[in-house]
Amino acid sequence: MPNCATRIIDEVYWVGVNDHETPCFEGLWALPKGMSYNAYLVRGKEKTALIELTKTTYTDEFIGRVEEIVPLSEVDYIIHNHMEPDHTGAIPAVYKLCPGAEILCTAKAKTFLDQFYGEGERVTAVKDGDSIDLGGRTLKFLSYPWLHWPDTMFTYLVEDKVLFSCDAFGGYGAVDEALFDDQMDLESYWPEARRYLGTIVASYLQHVVKAIDKWVKGGMGIDVLCPSHGPVYRQNPMAIISRYQEWAKNDKKAKVVMIVGSMWGNTHKMGEVVHRRLEEKGIEVKYFDAASAEPGAILGEMLNAGGIVFGAPTYDANIYPKLEYYLMLFKSKKKNGYPVGVFTQNSWNVSVLPKMEAYLKDMKAEIIQPEVVGHGAPNQEVTEALRQLADNLAARITDPCVCSPA
Ligand code: FEO
Repeated sequence: MPNCATRIIDEVYWVGVNDHETPCFEGLWALPKGMSYNAYLVRGKEKTALIELTKTTYTDEFIGRVEEIVPLSEVDYIIHNHMEPDHTGAIPAVYKLCPGAEILCTAKAKTFLDQFYGEGERVTAVKDGDSIDLGGRTLKFLSYPWLHWPDTMFTYLVEDKVLFSCDAFGGYGAVDEALFDDQMDLESYWPEARRYLGTIVASYLQHVVKAIDKWVKGGMGIDVLCPSHGPVYRQNPMAIISRYQEWAKNDKKAKVVMIVGSMWGNTHKMGEVVHRRLEEKGIEVKYFDAASAEPGAILGEMLNAGGIVFGAPTYDANIYPKLEYYLMLFKSKKKNGYPVGVFTQNSWNVSVLPKMEAYLKDMKAEIIQPEVVGHGAPNQEVTEALRQLADNLAARITDPCVCSPA
C-alpha cells in the first residue's frame, strides 16, 4: 500500500505522495480525507520517464519514493502534463538531481515553468500527437487544454493503453489506504470526485465534455487510467469517465441550491418558508448556511442544479459578507444563466437588493419574482411573498416555458 512506490503494471509505478496536513486545496476547498499528488514512473528497455512531480512541501518524500525504483540521476525524461504547483513544486530540487533529463511539456506550460521557476530554457515543448520512445514503449502526448489550465496535456502509454490524464478524472482524498479502484468503496468516493470536479474544473465543464468526446473519437482504448489525484483505475476506467461525463454535462434537474446567511435566525426563518414550499412542489432542495458551509460542497451540489436561491441579511449597509462571498464565487465559477430567487432583510431602511442584483446581472441570472424584503421575523405578508417566490421558481424549473409573473 502507498506510502511506498507501487507497481501498476510491469515497469510502471505510482511514485506519488499523500497529504494529510493541508487543510484546504488551493487555500479554498476542504480536504477532510486528505489529498494525493500522484506521479508515475515508466521504464522502457532503454529510457525512464517520470510523469509529474509533487508540491514543494513533499519534495523529500517524493524523491525518496522515486528512488525506491531508480536513482533520479538515471531519469531520462521528466514530463509535466500541467504546470500547477501541486505537480511541480519539487522542480528546484528534482531538476538539480537529474541534470541530464529532458523536460517535456506543452508550449503553454513551458511559459508557465519559466514564470514560476525560471526554467523555461531547459524545457522542450511538445505538440499534440508527438511521442517519445523509451525502448519498446511509446509515450504519446495529447493536448487537452483547460483540464484544468490552458497548458494541460495527457500522456498515453501506447503499447499498454495506460492513460496519464493529469487533473482530469481526479478527485479529493488520499490514497494511502487504497490506491486502486478495485481496493476501495467507490460509492463512498464519488462525492469527493464530484466535489473536486465542481470546484477545480467548475469553470471549464464544457471542456470536460469536449475532451471525452475527443478521446472517444480518437479510438484509443484505456486499460488503466492514472489521474494525478485520487485512485488508479485498473478494473474499470469507465466508472469515473462516465461519471465525469454525466456531472460535466450539468443537465439541469428539478433541484435548487439555497445559500442563506443569518445573524440572528430571522433570515433562516425566511429560508425555511422557501425551502418547505419548494419541497412541497417536488423540488429537491440543498440548503446551506453561508456562515458554516464548505464552499466545495456547495459547488459540488451545483452540478445538475436547476436553480439557485440566495438569502442575506443586511450587514453595515452591505450584503452579509459570508453570503457575498458566494455571490463572488458563483460569478467566478461562471454559474451563469440560472433562474435565481433572492430575499433579504431591511430593518435600517437600507436595501442591499441593488448590490445583489449587480452580481446577478454579471451572472446573467434570470431573477425570479418577487424579490422579497423582510423586516426581522417573516410576517404574514412576507411569508406569502416567499411562498410566491418558491412557486414561481418551481414553475420555472419544472417547465421552462412558464414565465415568472412579475
Ligand atoms: Fe492538480 Fe490543476 O493541478
